[in-house]
Amino acid sequence: MTALEEEYKRLKEAVVHHDNLYYKQANPEIDDQAYDRLKKDLEAFVEKHPEFLQVSLELSTVGDDRIEGFKSHQHRMPMLSLDNTYSMDEFKGFAKRLEAQFKDPNFLMTIEAKMDGVAISLTYEKGHFTRAVTRGNGTEGDDVTQNVLLIDSLPKRLPNAPEFMEVRGEIYMRHDEFERINTLRIEQSQETYKNPRNLAAGTLKLLDYDEAQKRNLNIVVYGVGAFDPTDYFDSQTQVQSSLKDWGFPVLEKFWVAKTADEAWGFIEELDQLRQGFPYPTDGAVIKVNQFSQQKALGSTSKAPRYAIAYKFEAERAETVLKEIQLQIGRTGAITPVAILEPVQLAGTTVSRATLHNEDEIARKDLRIGDQVLVQKAGEIIPQILSVNLLKRPADAKAFNFKAHLESLNIEAERDPSEATWRITNQNNPIQRQRALLHFASRAAMDIENLGTSIAEQLIDEYAINNPADLYRLSKEDFLKLDKFKEKSAENLHQAIQASKSQDLWRLIHGMGIPNVGKQAAKDLEVNFRSLEDLAKASYEALIAIEGVGGTMAENIRVWFENPEHQSMLERFKECGLNLESKTEAPSDTTSLTKKTFVITGKFESMTREEASEIIEKAGGKVSSSVSAKTDYLLAGTAAGSKLSKAEKLGIQILNEADFNQLLEN
Ligand code: IVH
Repeated sequence: MTALEEEYKRLKEAVVHHDNLYYKQANPEIDDQAYDRLKKDLEAFVEKHPEFLQVSLELSTVGDDRIEGFKSHQHRMPMLSLDNTYSMDEFKGFAKRLEAQFKDPNFLMTIEAKMDGVAISLTYEKGHFTRAVTRGNGTEGDDVTQNVLLIDSLPKRLPNAPEFMEVRGEIYMRHDEFERINTLRIEQSQETYKNPRNLAAGTLKLLDYDEAQKRNLNIVVYGVGAFDPTDYFDSQTQVQSSLKDWGFPVLEKFWVAKTADEAWGFIEELDQLRQGFPYPTDGAVIKVNQFSQQKALGSTSKAPRYAIAYKFEAERAETVLKEIQLQIGRTGAITPVAILEPVQLAGTTVSRATLHNEDEIARKDLRIGDQVLVQKAGEIIPQILSVNLLKRPADAKAFNFKAHLESLNIEAERDPSEATWRITNQNNPIQRQRALLHFASRAAMDIENLGTSIAEQLIDEYAINNPADLYRLSKEDFLKLDKFKEKSAENLHQAIQASKSQDLWRLIHGMGIPNVGKQAAKDLEVNFRSLEDLAKASYEALIAIEGVGGTMAENIRVWFENPEHQSMLERFKECGLNLESKTEAPSDTTSLTKKTFVITGKFESMTREEASEIIEKAGGKVSSSVSAKTDYLLAGTAAGSKLSKAEKLGIQILNEADFNQLLEN
């Protein structure tokens, strides 16, 4: 092989390798910028050595996300990629060429956020949602309709829509959801997802529908593919406003510019604003606004000539790794956390980064005292990318996970087949403290002022073994603790006693059954209505509940079978805690079940709040704004813009009498 052939082979193999990791496995090894650079290097190489052009043609696609297990579906209009740049000069050059080419006083460009999710094409036929397809190889993609239907905010019916339309957008996952799922995975000793984009891609391609149901995906749309009649839209701005009127979740904001300089100003503004957007963004997309002008410019086989993406560099900084702390989850999984010399990154001060597990520390060869490179890509939790070995101090100390656990007196073990350490003795003081704090937390029993130092003292002084022990403490017991005065002791005693009458789901959540979060606790309360019935529930009865899967059902069973937990429940009962659901049992299904209402105007017999309570009791939902997903507008007198919007969207409008009639039915 000649040197050139070798160079070509190296580049090509690298691109194929990383394409596969990015698109098919949703598990990249390198960051986006390095990935983009690699693809550019290959392009530049082929441009310089056109003799490789023929061999390289197979690569001029956009990767391929298709995997086994899904039906392929052909896009009516291909889903192309976008040319991208990290350079302001390159961006301005592109925009100035367009400006010059059209010399049209009405020439406009739109500036939008580039979302960092997973591309999706949604087909609507005669106004009905029929299919969701991934980009695939650009020409055909995987049919993921079933999982996309789980996204509540997606309108399924569009009034006054074209006969046929492909709506294009991105599926993404919110950061809080990303963290929730990764925390669960750590607790279950499963590998964590690297970032929200990978998790969104993985979730979209889940063949396990039960698992897919347990995760919250979101969608934002920004454009259209094919549409018929072909003159239905004539510009990007018009598409944006129609999508919004139909009730699609659309971009938070987009701009229109006449010149390259003006467009650049908006890109800078976007970079400031994007931290506040609910979806991750990694750049700006600039498009020629008029479809006639877009057509005149056309596309290459890979990307349109009428658009470009300007990508923001992920912010990185070097700082010192001061310490590695071990965090114990409420179910006993131990996660290492890097404590950093605080450093400014992407507008925030970063002083901690997750390290996932013991192997991650070894893989990166992290030592205490090292100078490390930290990245905050968009709003993702900071990551440690690498160690700067040139700056490693002579006394940098390796971190011995096991020795560290021992020095903290934590008994734990690591399953040889997994990377996670777990506490073996759940009665360990640290674990008991975690359990107590979780029980008292705002999302559970909401006992004010029961913080870390108090929990620690209670465990040391009064051998509080589990949350039920809290209820036997008197005001005098608190008075003996550090920093307590008459008033504070009285308050804490009161708060603990008052928590006895909290709703049942708070107790269920507070007990700390692995996997059972706040929502699951609410679902369990609604379905079993008493702690006694929940404790007796069979595996089959548990998995029959929406939102409860196999692992959770199993965990619930195991938890209630534990004699220590049974005695804790006995004690809850003796202390007089509320163990029953206080809400009325929902009547099976009513005509209002799962219907979405918007309420506007004034009523004779009820206030708006009362109307909304009635609807929710009957199983309906109340939303504050009218969209295509609204089933009914309940309109009283003096109804305003909501009424006209509902009329425009063809939504059924109820007056007070219609509403009462509906309830009687
Ligand atoms: S327009 C012909 N607009 O970025 C391609 N794409 O790197 C037109 N993306 O495939 C795409 N935000 O998945 C467009 N506001 C936006 C976007 C956007 C994210 C994605 C899209 C596209 C990829 C290209």
